Parts: sequence; C-alpha cells; structure tokens
Amino acid sequence: MAEIDNSIYETLGERWYEAWDDPVALLRSEAKIKHPWILKKIRVQYGESKVGILDVGCGAGFLTNEFASQGYPVTGVDLSPESLKVAHNYDKTKSVKYLTADALKLPFPDNSFDVVTCMDFLEHVKNPQLYVGEISRVLKPGGIFFFHTFNRNLLSWLLIIKFVEWLVKNTPKNMHVIKLFIKPSELAGFCRDADLEVGEMTGIRPVLSSIPVKSLFSGIVPKSFRFELTSSLLLSYLGCARKTLK
Ligand SMILES: C[S@@+](CC[C@H](N)C(=O)[O-])C[C@H]1O[C@@H](n2cnc3c(N)ncnc32)[C@H](O)[C@@H]1O
Repeated sequence: MAEIDNSIYETLGERWYEAWDDPVALLRSEAKIKHPWILKKIRVQYGESKVGILDVGCGAGFLTNEFASQGYPVTGVDLSPESLKVAHNYDKTKSVKYLTADALKLPFPDNSFDVVTCMDFLEHVKNPQLYVGEISRVLKPGGIFFFHTFNRNLLSWLLIIKFVEWLVKNTPKNMHVIKLFIKPSELAGFCRDADLEVGEMTGIRPVLSSIPVKSLFSGIVPKSFRFELTSSLLLSYLGCARKTLK
C-alpha cells in the first residue's frame, strides 16, 4: 500500500504562497475559512489577551503568520527547514519563533502553551494518537487544541485524493494516502485518551459553484475557488478540544 510522501514540503519554496497550478493553492483557499473560525474561538475564550500559541506542522506558516499579525506570541514547529525559511520570509512581524523539530518530540516543557493548533497535519503521520498525546503534554490545563484533518471514507478518497490528482497540475504522488485519513470518532478517542475534551467539530466542503467550468480541466486552481463550513464531517473537519483541569 502507498506510503505518504512528506518530502514534498522541502521542495515547494515560494510556491507555498504563489502557485496556482499546485494543490497548495487549495490549502491557501481552505485557510480563508479555517483561520477566522479559530481566531474567533480564541477571542471568545481569552478576550483581547494575547495568549501563547504553538502551531504544530506549521509548514510555510499560513496560520502561524496570521496569529503573529494579530499580535499573538507564536511558535511554529515543522520537520521541513525549507518550509520554515519561507514561513519566516512571509512573517511581516518577524516575531514568530520557527523551529525545526519532529512534532513527536516537541522541544518544550509540559504545560507551555495556552493554544496549540495543528492544521492538515495529523493525516501526514503514522500513529496520530501519539502526536495528540504530545500536543496535550505541552498544552496548559484548560488550554485549547485546534485541529483540521480529513475523514476516511470512499467520498473523501474520491474528492480529496483522486479528484485533486486528476484535476490539479503538479499534484505529487502520495501527497495524501487514504489509510492515514482519520474518522472524527477516532480523533475524538485520541483526544479523550490525551485528557482533551472535544468541544466542537465542523465540516468544510468546497463550494462547487466557485469553480468556473472552463477552468475545470485547466489544471489550475481558479482564484475564485472557495470552501465553506458545513455540518457534515464527511470530507474535512475542523475542531477544538480543551485540556482537562486536573
Ligand atoms: C499539509 S502540510 C500543512 C502545513 C500547515 N499546517 C498548513 O496548514 O498550511 C503538512 C506539514 O506537516 C509537516 N510534517 C510532517 N511530518 C511532521 C513531523 N513528524 N513533525 C513536524 N512536522 C511534520 C510537513 O513538513 C508539512 O509542512
């Protein structure tokens, strides 16, 4: 069975932010719906207080740099040094601490952060439950874990893996593999085992009407392409969990 290829993130360079002929454009598009959801929840919980945030598997810093631009002290961790260079270049505040590290061994003491985020990351690793445990370790009691990942079923295989391979140029082989996708009930179980109580999960789906028909077979992600929140968790889902106070 196919194995995930995480080496692709070392080669993207500026394409993280600039390419439209690459599935990374979908990630940027999806960020537009994920970021406001997360920022709103942080404000509801902590008001204007600028709490400490860790972004795990931060890639080129889409969310990390957004937090920094909103004034949060934020650290980003990723295995790919080349992605972190891009992330640093796009950090207008030059305040983010970017560190190369394996998320399985986060280089922080227990109870270090108020918020830990983990976007499109858990489906890139074997044994995601171990990573959720490690995230919980560095989260303060009462702190919030935000996650986004993909559900595992026939529809997600077809739309998230096969349609992207067929329709978007430069889609690397094994960018995603179905066996690493995670059912919401499984993720909720990993959270429970790590003293994290899931508060909310919401689905995300593409808005098909935002794809002009003429661009469908061009291999290019149209700039109009967008995602929306949905109550269905069938495809991808975004959620949060709170570390129990013990
Ligand atoms: C799909 S990208 C998501 C990047 C970013 N979170 C975003 O949403 O734009 C997955 C990222 O996980 C990173 N990654 C994979 N395995 C990792 C590990 N064990 N520890 C830290 N980062 C890892 C990759 O280098 C890549 O940047």
